Amino acid sequence: MRNLIDILDFSTEELDALISVADDIIENPDKYREVCRGKILGTLFFEPSTRTRLSFTSAMMSLGGQVLGFDNAGSSSVAKGETVADTVRMVSAYSDIIAMRHPKEGAPIAASAVATVPVINAGDGGHFHPTQTLTDLLTIHRKCGRFEGLTVGVCGDLKYGRTVHSLIAAMSRYEGVRFVLISPDELKLPDYVKEQFLDSTGCEYTESRDLEGAIPELDILYMTRIQRERFSSEAEYEKLKDSYILNRGKLSGAKPTLSVMHPLPRVNEIDVDVDDDPRAHYFDQAAYGRYIRMALILFLLDTKGIDDKRQIGEESDSLVCDNPHCLSLSERGIKKLFSGGRCIYCDQRARRI
Ligand code: CP
Repeated sequence: MRNLIDILDFSTEELDALISVADDIIENPDKYREVCRGKILGTLFFEPSTRTRLSFTSAMMSLGGQVLGFDNAGSSSVAKGETVADTVRMVSAYSDIIAMRHPKEGAPIAASAVATVPVINAGDGGHFHPTQTLTDLLTIHRKCGRFEGLTVGVCGDLKYGRTVHSLIAAMSRYEGVRFVLISPDELKLPDYVKEQFLDSTGCEYTESRDLEGAIPELDILYMTRIQRERFSSEAEYEKLKDSYILNRGKLSGAKPTLSVMHPLPRVNEIDVDVDDDPRAHYFDQAAYGRYIRMALILFLLDTKGIDDKRQIGEESDSLVCDNPHCLSLSERGIKKLFSGGRCIYCDQRARRI
């Protein structure tokens, strides 16, 4: 059985195959209307969502299947103190596949360790959001026609922006991709993401605070929201919230073929005057989420008997995860596991005790 916890759980060949199926679904939706009849998707959303939860729901319904779940932890027995592991054990018994969003980093790994059905990470804290990346890749493929050789500007909250972390992981595998990382100093890309996906792969990147200066060289401009819910200080959020606001004027020096993307929701970071620009692709991007999630559900339901390739890690008496947002610090009974000096749940470097 396979899961999708991290976008690197899938090879580039598998991603190409998912994109081909999504393209075929867009062209021939009738072919797919009954293929999941009798199957149930469990949607466990411990955090708010519009696009991810509803596009998963729409995806399963469009395949002829059904959906159960909750859209906030307060309406589940989590409110009575039930662990993630016990919740997922139960929903495994009631469904054929699970999509889960959780504010704690590493929650989907803990879920996949006990689930008896495939688990999809629908966003874990500020860590990863691999199904957003599937949506992004489908968008890039349909709008740019390729991945190789693209210069990708990612702008905004690169520290807490989980969609950026997964996008960088995925795109760094393609030949000739360059990143321009545009953020305030306080919201730079975390070291664990740089080390794992940029430094170790030799993927070229530069860091900048200057959005307008970077725009002319970009093929893709991926804007992101400042993630208010991840800040420990409201004053710090207020200071940084309007760091970047893209408007039509700022696009005057951009390539005519630029693709402006955003995982949404947006707050202030893209002015509505950009929406009519033919280079604004963020609403198409959100719409594509339904089709690539249909392709993903089909793929994972077809992987019984195939081993997940994920490394399990080892327990250690001398290490502790140093990330206060990691599920391994709050979940009762969880095994604390490490690999190569990193916590296997959140990928951050562990601290010696
Ligand atoms: N892009 C995204 O994850 O949106 P939602 O939070 O609305 O699901």
